[in-house]
Amino acid sequence: MSRFDGKVAIVTGAGAGIGKSTARLLAREGAAVLLADRDLKSGEAAAAEITAAGGKAAAFEVDVSDPHGCREMVERAESVFGGVDIVHANAGIDGPNTLFHEHDDAIIEAVTKVNFLGAIYTCRAAIPALKARAGGCIVMTSSRVSLQVPATMSVYAAAKAGLNKLTESLALEYGPYNIRVNAVAPGVTLTEFWFVLFERRPELRPYYEALTPLGRWGTPDDMAKAVAFLASDDAAFITGVTLLVDGGLNLRQADLAYQGALKELGRW
Ligand code: NAI
Repeated sequence: MSRFDGKVAIVTGAGAGIGKSTARLLAREGAAVLLADRDLKSGEAAAAEITAAGGKAAAFEVDVSDPHGCREMVERAESVFGGVDIVHANAGIDGPNTLFHEHDDAIIEAVTKVNFLGAIYTCRAAIPALKARAGGCIVMTSSRVSLQVPATMSVYAAAKAGLNKLTESLALEYGPYNIRVNAVAPGVTLTEFWFVLFERRPELRPYYEALTPLGRWGTPDDMAKAVAFLASDDAAFITGVTLLVDGGLNLRQADLAYQGALKELGRW
């Protein structure tokens, strides 16, 4: 008996990175998975990998910043797999790493719409389906920067911090319906975005490795395991939490700031 036998999961942003790893893991442990992504080709390729390995999967094209598309996504999971038990509201895009006043309109709108409204629309569409199954769970993908924000990530971090509060609110409202709502807050995680960035800034790779107390980068599989834990019965009494999965990176950054302050005061 696997942890997700008989369960149906929707994973947004499942064509790549963290979402793809989560879809693969949930399917390997028995779930039928709808891989929802705005890039249909990558969603289909990831779904094909899962079915080739003997799992149950289908792809669906969605832009999570479109509320209508999110409703259709849930309807598709219901029509293809018979219902919805688990939702990983994961789709997201990166911020621009510029000072706040330099964020242009298009960036502010895109980062807010995908990262914040996208999760809101995904959850709103899914909750009636979860209620129809007399319970279920949602796991959002937040970010470590929602808990300790570095400079130049204002809009992205604010959107992700909004998800942490959404997580708490929904946990309160839907606990009585046996719906648990949690979030994972990944630290730096080796996905395509970073590999592209390393071509311009190779120093970032050893930098974060050295900065992270556990001495390495996170992987999409590290995040998928945390999502699967929160989605499983092992987490049956956990709701409303944002689980930091960062190898200790946020602790180190706080510690460095403190050491810097002590040095300035001549006490280090
Ligand atoms: P990724 O870029 O590797 O994959 C994201 C997937 O989401 C892509 O397949 C993309 O097509 C899809 N997507 C983007 N916008 C979408 C939309 N509007 N509707 C539907 N699908 C959409 O990204 P990664 O790194 O796997 O990120 C996943 C989540 O993790 C995001 O929410 C991101 O903010 C968060 N995160 C990632 C970290 C990292 O270091 N990689 C760190 C902290 C949080």
